[in-house]
Amino acid sequence: MLNSNGFDLWVDGYDKSVGLSDEDGTYPFAGYKAILNEIYTRILSSNCKKVMDIGFGTGALTAKLYEQGLEIYGQDFSGKMIEIAQAKMPNAHLFQGDFAYGLADPLLYQKYDAIIATYSLHHLTDNQKVCFINDLTERLNDGGTIYIGDVAFTSRAELQKCKDKAGDDCDEDEVYFVFNELKSSFPTMQFEPISYCAGILSLQG
Ligand SMILES: C[S@@+](CC[C@H](N)C(=O)[O-])C[C@H]1O[C@@H](n2cnc3c(N)ncnc32)[C@H](O)[C@@H]1O
Repeated sequence: MLNSNGFDLWVDGYDKSVGLSDEDGTYPFAGYKAILNEIYTRILSSNCKKVMDIGFGTGALTAKLYEQGLEIYGQDFSGKMIEIAQAKMPNAHLFQGDFAYGLADPLLYQKYDAIIATYSLHHLTDNQKVCFINDLTERLNDGGTIYIGDVAFTSRAELQKCKDKAGDDCDEDEVYFVFNELKSSFPTMQFEPISYCAGILSLQG
């Protein structure tokens, strides 16, 4: 599993390597741009004003929302990712912190119209995901939505199929979403597959 130093080192090639995997339609980023575009469109069309991004990276999604005038908050543990994202969004409220230990203090005392996490929460175990997503629901304004775009599958059998196909390229340190297992903790959660290995999980407050 990459720690914050690992992401600091990956930062220069990040957008390029993600783009290549998406264009080739290969694990893990097949469907990446479609997922970000879909979340972007839904947030803009639902009249959200205040958005929190968990593990915003280079700000690929939030910088586009920022350009549309939305108020952006976020947390990431990589100092280099924060530097890049902050340069794209000078007035965004970006904080450093490991979400395995929850939200950074300044993010805890407010509520958001939308909370997004793209390709970041697979760094948590399944139990940690449930606890953290529960905490996130407490931070939603009425009518707000959590959007998780990530490597995700309807069932564990589909996850296994993808792992078999990826072979040695499969990152065994990452813990991918299995929707029909998460559903028992979040009965109203929805899952829309976007590629054979990724999709959007959404949960309304
Ligand atoms: C694969 S990148 C995704 C970036 C962006 N959301 C995107 O869709 O392009 C994962 C991001 O999550 C951050 N991250 C991973 N684990 C984290 C943790 N435990 N706490 C805080 N940030 C974390 C990394 O630093 C990185 O910026």
